[in-house]
Amino acid sequence: MSKCNPKEAIRSDRRAFIKTTVLGSGAAVLIGYPLISYFITPALKKATGKWVDFGAVEELSPGRIEMLTYEFMVKDGWLVLPQRGFVWAKTTQDHQIKVFSSTCTHLACNVIWQEETNQFICPCHSGRFDSDGKPVAGPPTKPLLVLDHKIEEDNLLAYLSF
Ligand code: FES
Repeated sequence: MSKCNPKEAIRSDRRAFIKTTVLGSGAAVLIGYPLISYFITPALKKATGKWVDFGAVEELSPGRIEMLTYEFMVKDGWLVLPQRGFVWAKTTQDHQIKVFSSTCTHLACNVIWQEETNQFICPCHSGRFDSDGKPVAGPPTKPLLVLDHKIEEDNLLAYLSF
């Protein structure tokens, strides 16, 4: 019959507990991190923007401001959602192009070009912008966003952020 020292037994149990805890935690980190990264990261990723092709630049009329519409699919985390909207392209008589965002700088309603008044009108709170996108009436204080654009293979492309 062997004698068992209670203090030694407690010390031995404590060592075993600490060893199990440390090894278990290490294993959880090694296995859990890749799993969490695989499942969670896509949900946190957001697209930031893309170049959108608005078609042949020769279709634009010099001296006019025209609505150009777009529709494409955007991956937002786990979801793939349609993104629809429009921008405004201003073409001068000498074929210089400016592309304005349609988003009002007050509270993000869509502005509409009104040829009769030569202004962009925001229907939400009667904000108004001139043909260069500068605010001229109502609550907006910032100009309409001018989008980066380029011409590739005779098509107009504008960079949209979302
Ligand atoms: S959202 Fe355009 S004026 Fe308020």
